[in-house]
Amino acid sequence: MSTSEDKKNGKPAIDTSSLKLAQADSYNALIKGNSEWVERKLQEDSEYFATLAKGQSPQVLWIGCSDSRVPANEVTGTKPGEVFVHRNIANVVVHSDMNMLSVLDYAVNVLKVKHVIVAGHYGCGGVAAALSNKQFGIIDNWLRHIKDVYRLHANELDRITDETQKQNRLVELNVSEQVYNLCKTSIIQNAWMERHDLEVHGWVINLGTGLIKDLKVTSSSPHNLGYVYELDSVNAAAQH
Ligand code: CO
Repeated sequence: MSTSEDKKNGKPAIDTSSLKLAQADSYNALIKGNSEWVERKLQEDSEYFATLAKGQSPQVLWIGCSDSRVPANEVTGTKPGEVFVHRNIANVVVHSDMNMLSVLDYAVNVLKVKHVIVAGHYGCGGVAAALSNKQFGIIDNWLRHIKDVYRLHANELDRITDETQKQNRLVELNVSEQVYNLCKTSIIQNAWMERHDLEVHGWVINLGTGLIKDLKVTSSSPHNLGYVYELDSVNAAAQH
């Protein structure tokens, strides 16, 4: 409620005390949740954090959507230390994105992960936004990469009249294109010249069932990249 003093000072007549309480509650819940998690972990294994602190050797790099409903560890039933994670809106692999490239290089060349997985999900807000012609602000520039995926597959997508089906199919096609984009990188191609235990996969998570759909677009060699994208080895170039 506003007081006469508020009115005098021209302050808005809004009681913010309950808002501030809710704000503090949602924040404090995180700290409380953390201490309960630590307690639970220590009850299961008193050495849990001592072991975790020693280092990581994950076998998997997960490139997923920032959506709060698709946490890499929970979806795959893995523990901290088992999955290296990069997330952005709509799990896009943009070849000039230094953040993604740094994560990919570190995962492939230092951690020596054996699987790189692009994990999309049905009901992706980023994909839905890319399907529309509305403006959402800065994010439109990021989502344009998904519009590019649409353009590549417009023949198929334009024929789907059900909006949900169209969106689901674009989610799948987006994952497949991002797998392709990963395979185009010099990081993945150079790694394939050195070792044969690196696979790139595409998944879609069904939020309604929790289940993963493997899109069966796994790549483990550059042979399907096509002559435009397949790179010679650095050594071969030096010999010319
Ligand atoms: Co999403």
